[in-house]
Amino acid sequence: METPALKVSDLTKRYGDVTALDGATFSVEAGEIFGFLGPNGAGKTTTINVLTGLARPTSGSVRVLGYTYPAGLTSAQARIGVVPDESNLYPEMDGFDNLCFCAALYGISRDTRERRARDLLERFELADVGSRPFAAYSRGMKRKLTIAAALIHDPDILFLDEPTTGIDVASARGIRRLLGDLRNDGVTIFLTTHYIEEAERLCGRIAFIVGGSIVRIDAKEDLLSEADGSSTLSFSLDGDARRGADLISSSFPDLLTRLHADGTLTVISPGEMDLMPILRAFDGAGIPVYEARLVRPSLEDVFVRITGIEAEEMKRHKEGSGR
Ligand SMILES: Nc1ncnc2c1ncn2[C@@H]1O[C@H](COP(=O)(O)OP(=O)(O)OP(=O)(O)O)[C@@H](O)[C@H]1O
Ligand SMILES: [Mg+2]
Repeated sequence: METPALKVSDLTKRYGDVTALDGATFSVEAGEIFGFLGPNGAGKTTTINVLTGLARPTSGSVRVLGYTYPAGLTSAQARIGVVPDESNLYPEMDGFDNLCFCAALYGISRDTRERRARDLLERFELADVGSRPFAAYSRGMKRKLTIAAALIHDPDILFLDEPTTGIDVASARGIRRLLGDLRNDGVTIFLTTHYIEEAERLCGRIAFIVGGSIVRIDAKEDLLSEADGSSTLSFSLDGDARRGADLISSSFPDLLTRLHADGTLTVISPGEMDLMPILRAFDGAGIPVYEARLVRPSLEDVFVRITGIEAEEMKRHKEGSGR
């Protein structure tokens, strides 16, 4: 496909006084995994809702697979799959029947839908639980079946709204692997996430979205190369990480510090950084250093620099939001 799979210009969505999405402009190339990375309330779900036809934009234009909305919405919908943040499947129906039911909605013949349902259960490692009611699935299994259902009609674009939020680590890993496989099969993927590492691992291009606005959009390599030249040191200071951070801030005003939930402290410098003066400062303040290591630049550094939002803060908000 020569044209972009998705082209959005100056897209705005308001709910009363709230501007959920403010003039977003971007395109997604066929066959790429494109990530929308942002915190609570950034406008991620709103964007997916508008792109999949669940919500009407206030202004701006949307073109999906060459179809312009709203006239081309129905044609586009036949070729896109959507994985909402909350599952839309039937709790009392078993996995296999849920998939067959979704297939029937697309007018797929009985033979084909049963075959596709079986194939998808197999591919998502759910074959053993295909005859169990959806309600009896674990969260991870539910999420996988929801993705399988979105793939039942073999869509060209798959939209996923935070596909790994709120599920166990092993299921999340399985889902990331499947998304990589789908991309290799030529499916275009648009996904939202608040996990910086997930965007870094999966996505070719990434948009940072905050408060309804896209603040940055670029290829991952270009974003990462921005972190080149800077250096990050990680310190294990046992219980003294906060005191260590205060000490660094007051003694080395050019360095940025970041505290992590696991008790480590990272110190970031825009250029080269000398370890010795820092170790001497900790020593002078009686703060024991258990480990100090150089960390390779990550997307997190760039994200924090551009948005001013800490990764830990983003996770806490999200996990505190009860999902
Ligand atoms: N139906 C609605 N009515 C009114 N306001 C809404 C509606 N949907 C979203 N909003 C508001 O629009 C803004 C963006 O919400 P949205 O759900 O798109 O964010 P999000 O990035 O998906 O957040 P989260 O990470 O919590 O899922 C928020 O301020 C939200 O309160
Ligand atoms: Mg959301």
